[in-house]
Amino acid sequence: MTGIRTSVESLGVIGSGTMGNGIAQVAASAGYSVTLFDISQAQLDKALQMISKSLTKLSEKGKLKESPDQVLKRLRTTTQLQDLKEVHFVIEAATENREIKFKLFSELDKILAPGVILATNTSSISVTEVASHTQRPEWVAGMHFMNPVPLMTLVEGIRGLATHDECFKQVRAVAEKMGKVFIEAKDAPGFAVNRILMPMINEAFVALQEGLASPKDIDTAMKLGCNFPMGPLELADFVGLDVCLFVMEVLHRDLGDSKYRPAPLLRKYVEAGWKGRKTNRGVYVY
Ligand code: 3HC
Repeated sequence: MTGIRTSVESLGVIGSGTMGNGIAQVAASAGYSVTLFDISQAQLDKALQMISKSLTKLSEKGKLKESPDQVLKRLRTTTQLQDLKEVHFVIEAATENREIKFKLFSELDKILAPGVILATNTSSISVTEVASHTQRPEWVAGMHFMNPVPLMTLVEGIRGLATHDECFKQVRAVAEKMGKVFIEAKDAPGFAVNRILMPMINEAFVALQEGLASPKDIDTAMKLGCNFPMGPLELADFVGLDVCLFVMEVLHRDLGDSKYRPAPLLRKYVEAGWKGRKTNRGVYVY
């Protein structure tokens, strides 16, 4: 087994969607030199705009140590995976699709120097299985960020079966340098957050389907009754109904318990293309 890379100054982020661009932003704000990879240049341009907007907002509120431009100077984008060759640590936040992640991990394993950690931001795929697509499973771990990454404090750390203690220590150190609070969860379906959050969201769809209350009243019940910042249906639109359905399918399949059955209404909305805020229609119309 090759030894771990000890000092981490540069970071590669794979995928520039909502999670990837948030991770890249927070990493650059923490002082890392960041290379953000995506297959689409248009998506990278969009990501840079989002990051810039978010940094400006945080700066106006005095929540940024430097100017947005100083942070942006530490961030570069690329459509070539090879450009990640020199980075010291990688966080993958590509589409939540098993085959895409497996292929990326196998390719990155060949490109990166030995001892460089490969972390996955998967929300539901087995970290052990992702790691098995590399020759360095001891240097692979889960690093699950929450949306919106610049505002949410938690990172859920997940050890795969082969994850080395030194690897996990470094994953924690990187998360903490990014200003996050780190918790450890087992490599089990949904880890801790989605194992609890998604069945709650799913139940809100069951309640809606039964006509228990209107969407607005279901959300108000949880906001004012339980002090949630967003109601479960509003949160589902925010996260993406397709993502919620995907996680419920994983819980249902892998845990084999009918209590995780996806709500038929949730499935129907996804079939209709009503995926939430990103499609301008989910439970609510935007
Ligand atoms: N960067 C910088 N500022 C941002 C931002 C971002 N990415 N997103 C929102 N803001 C700003 C807003 O512009 C707003 O600024 P203003 O006060 O100057 O207008 C401020 O934050 C507050 O936002 P809003 O007024 O829109 O709304 P809220 O007060 O409700 O706060 C929230 C937004 C922090 C998202 C809050 O609603 C919240 O905590 N919601 C729950 C989010 C949550 O549960 N996330 C986890 C989802 S699960 C997950 O990610 C796991 C995955 O695997 C599915």
